[in-house]
Amino acid sequence: MASKRKSASGKNKPIKKLEPHEGYFGNFGGRYVSDLLIPALDELTAAWKKFSHDKKFEKELLHLYNDYAGRPSLLTYAENLSHAWNAQVYLKREDLLHTGSHKINNTLGQALLAQKMKKGRIIAETGAGQHGVATATAGALLKIPVHIYMGTEDLRRQALNDFRMRLLGATISGVGGNSGTLRDAVNEALRDWAKNVDNTYYLIGSAIGPHPYPTIVRTFQSIIGKESRQQFTKITGKLPQAVFACVGGGSNAIGMFSGFLKDTKVELIGAEAGGRTLTPGNHSASLTVGKPGVLQGAMTYILQTPDGQVNNVHSVSAGLDYPGVGPEHAYLKEQGRAQYVAIKDKEALAAFQELSKTEGIIPALESAHAVAAAKQYVDALKKKGKKNPLILICLSGRGDKDVQEVERLLALPEVPIAAEEEPTANTFTTAPTVKVLAGGSSE
Ligand SMILES: Cc1ncc(COP(=O)(O)O)c(C=O)c1O
Repeated sequence: MASKRKSASGKNKPIKKLEPHEGYFGNFGGRYVSDLLIPALDELTAAWKKFSHDKKFEKELLHLYNDYAGRPSLLTYAENLSHAWNAQVYLKREDLLHTGSHKINNTLGQALLAQKMKKGRIIAETGAGQHGVATATAGALLKIPVHIYMGTEDLRRQALNDFRMRLLGATISGVGGNSGTLRDAVNEALRDWAKNVDNTYYLIGSAIGPHPYPTIVRTFQSIIGKESRQQFTKITGKLPQAVFACVGGGSNAIGMFSGFLKDTKVELIGAEAGGRTLTPGNHSASLTVGKPGVLQGAMTYILQTPDGQVNNVHSVSAGLDYPGVGPEHAYLKEQGRAQYVAIKDKEALAAFQELSKTEGIIPALESAHAVAAAKQYVDALKKKGKKNPLILICLSGRGDKDVQEVERLLALPEVPIAAEEEPTANTFTTAPTVKVLAGGSSE
């Protein structure tokens, strides 16, 4: 974009407004991919530029959101939990959407984009299976064949979602041997895409990967933050003090946070998987203990060995089991605009049960991490004598997919049912962040 200024000669001279570099969030993001993929990414960027500003596309997508997916999703005041915690807790109910999670916001958007790009085939990776189910659903609806890559360990943990995807007409490849998880699935999907770029659309499931994916996914998920802000201010007349979301690749969190980025008094808190312990291989807390590096096409925070190999990861929830994170979160962390905390498996399991018992809502294990982070935050405030904070939690999905795994875990003698006795290492700044963002990226 150009604006005018007077030159020394008195004539108006165009100057280039300083936009963030395309495809970057500060130093994060970009396109660290093989040359083979550049034409496909260029084609996608061009289509995105065209359709993200197209009124007809917007109208079609809104129709799918409202009349198929079940938007707007509810904002529920969690009265019992609020009493129990001495807080005012609101839940954004992405768990009530068709297919059971926020993933449908992104898959409907990208499948529509694939249709506009006249692609005859969609491929996707999936971790918990929620993105795979949501992609298979969008493919069935828009009549585009879908092939899913899923880690073999995730297939074991999420057998029901495997069957759901097949019912929806998708074909599935299990990848990665005995420990196959989301990372293996993303790698395999990228390999497939490189071979079949002409007729294939790669429908990535989180705000990760090379430009323009983080921007595309954030934009489709920004409906969460937009609706939440409107609903919250309408119901309470105020903004929340703090907003919580779990972070795997970071799509529900960035969608939610995007609605409050400019409200610098609203604290944005992402809950990563702290797993068993914060030692290598036992967690997937990329922002809490990771370092900047390149993973799957983007510069971001990743879990790596001192010589740069990607570490193995672990989480009780398949959807958080990823050694990296979307680059915009890396940027928000470095800017100090968002904080990220690590929630242990057992803390998430305790939150899973607490929300089920107090509110009659069984959350996804991923979302239970956000609930646990919110509880720790409220407790930290209480210790400072501050009570009754007004908070908002993104309930990214429902727990139906997790109940069997949770039943199995709770039966194990070494997994404590409650985490109340456990000291937590997380600290919250709990002071309003005053930094004003220089601006993210990137269209
Ligand atoms: C219910 C639910 N929430 C959260 C996530 C994490 O993904 P993201 O960080 O992209 O929102 C997943 C991933 O599968 C999920 O199924």
